Amino acid sequence: MAHPVVGEAEVLSNERAGVYHRIVLAAPEAAARVRAGHFATLALGGESGLLLRRAFSIHRADAEAGTVELVVAVHGAGTRELVKARPGDRLSLIAPLGTPFPVGEGPVSALLVAGGYGSAPLFALAEEIRRRGGQVGFLLGASTAERLYGVEAAQALTQDVLVVTEDGSAGLKGLVTDPMAQALGAIEATVVYACGPMGMLRAVTEIATGLGARCHTAVEEAMACGVGICMTCVLPVVGEDGVSRFVRSCTDGPVFDGARVRWADIGTVPPDLEGAGAMGASA
Ligand SMILES: Cc1cc2nc3c(=O)[nH]c(=O)nc-3n(C[C@H](O)[C@H](O)[C@H](O)COP(=O)(O)OP(=O)(O)OC[C@H]3O[C@@H](n4cnc5c(N)ncnc54)[C@H](O)[C@@H]3O)c2cc1C
Ligand code: FES
Repeated sequence: MAHPVVGEAEVLSNERAGVYHRIVLAAPEAAARVRAGHFATLALGGESGLLLRRAFSIHRADAEAGTVELVVAVHGAGTRELVKARPGDRLSLIAPLGTPFPVGEGPVSALLVAGGYGSAPLFALAEEIRRRGGQVGFLLGASTAERLYGVEAAQALTQDVLVVTEDGSAGLKGLVTDPMAQALGAIEATVVYACGPMGMLRAVTEIATGLGARCHTAVEEAMACGVGICMTCVLPVVGEDGVSRFVRSCTDGPVFDGARVRWADIGTVPPDLEGAGAMGASA
């Protein structure tokens, strides 16, 4: 787990980016500790606020500038409140949280696959891979053009960028997974990093592992505490010993080896899971 800082962050800017908001916060202590894949939680709603904090991937962290950036999609009460934030507002922030994307020491060729705002944590990762002498390709998908995030930023990092939308309003028409095998082959990628909806992560894992590539997935399981106490965020994962257990996506993740996640069993208590008997599951 990361070593999070609990504190107040000042909103420096809040700009529209398609249907999303890119929010920059001054949080110098937290910024210095962030690695790609970490997330942050915010208390929202002021003094009469919402009980639970809300989780967001950290899009960018600049240790020198002391800033942390988030990309926010409006979902419910908390995010509706957050996108109203103005420069000068102060928010209660805990960051960084979770486990970052694993990056090997040597150079690799990696395909980064995103659904919608799932691209947010992948740009810092791409820069890290390139710093280590590797190369990256981006596969950015969304339902519509306005739900894509960061196409220009990806193009600034590499010429290997493929855009896919379900309605065909930008790039190829279809699912982000449709051209995945071709994109993997084009850059001879041996590792895939993915962030987006669960169904997409499952499909990405199946394709990547079927083609012999490792697949690191950043999941967005609903979280209550964000710090490993409540067990709200568990999902079934096969351990290195071959035993399946519920693991917490806030502290053991949100980044998991996709091949170890039991995607089809998420939301259930599989009977062969360690401790399932005590949870009332019958074999
Ligand atoms: C690791 C991670 C990274 C994320 N990154 C981003 C991001 O970069 N950008 C972005 O826009 N969104 C991101 N999200 C999703 C974001 O957290 C939700 O959209 C946000 O919590 C919605 O809050 P709301 O008040 O608007 O919606 P509401 O639906 O009103 O409230 C959601 C709240 O209910 C809780 N909740 C929902 N379902 C359950 C459940 N089954 N059990 C317990 N509690 C539950 C949630 O934990 C949250 O606190 C991320 C989520 C996670 C877990
Ligand atoms: S959200 Fe509470 S343990 Fe993960």
